[in-house]
Amino acid sequence: MLRGESVRYNSLTIILHWLMALAFFVMLASGVVMEYFDIDKSLKYQLFQWHKGGGVLLLLAFFLRLAMRIFARTPPLPETMKALEKKLAKIGHWGLYVMMLLMPLSGWLMVSSSPYGLPTIVFDMFEWPHFPGVTGNGAVHDGAKLAHLILAIIFAALIAGHIAAVVKHAISDKENLLKRMWWTK
Ligand code: HEM
Ligand code: HEM
Repeated sequence: MLRGESVRYNSLTIILHWLMALAFFVMLASGVVMEYFDIDKSLKYQLFQWHKGGGVLLLLAFFLRLAMRIFARTPPLPETMKALEKKLAKIGHWGLYVMMLLMPLSGWLMVSSSPYGLPTIVFDMFEWPHFPGVTGNGAVHDGAKLAHLILAIIFAALIAGHIAAVVKHAISDKENLLKRMWWTK
């Protein structure tokens, strides 16, 4: 490690990481509730609106996050990590980035091709347009709906692996990676 080189992520990445992590948990939970819970019709409608609006904001936040990943400096992985662990961490992180993009894209494609054609109003702030050229296309709708479900399962599994890796490093390697994603010295 070079002298003066930071061992933590930059502040904007830290803020985005934790806000987005919280939001993704809410998105996964609300998706399951919308799909499998027998709840009041008006609450269900409201939940759909929040889920869609939250998903659109996460899509926009993703591009800021990706820009930070590409243009800002990323602290090198700790020396205590073995070469294989470093490789797995890199694959896992890029897998999470891919899911952060594909999850909202598949949701957007699904609602854009839905036979109901309902608009997506983002928290009463602005209307998000439908994906062009797919209106009322049943095949696209069914494909996107299935993709949204399969991607959600893969995403949840990657998140579980991500958390397990942080816990594993804390317990068996005595390396607290959380410090890299926070402002503590
Ligand atoms: C829920 C969704 C989550 C997503 C999508 C996510 C995504 C990511 C990504 C993509 C990175 C790599 C950053 C980079 O190098 O570009 C990262 C790093 C990290 N995440 Fe998460 N994360 C999530 C939740 C969590 C949770 C709950 C924890 C707590 C255990 C956590 C702890 C960390 C830590 C400590 C790092 C830094 C790893 C290092 O470089 O040492 N993340 N996260
Ligand atoms: C950003 C991350 C997102 C996550 C993690 C997420 C997660 C989920 C999950 C877990 C489900 C239940 C899937 C099932 O059982 O079939 C779901 C359903 C749904 N999602 Fe998302 N979603 C996201 C973004 C979006 C976006 C951006 C939209 C639309 C603009 C959207 C629209 C929907 C709709 C309409 C359903 C219900 C499908 C139906 O009942 O026909 N989602 N979502």
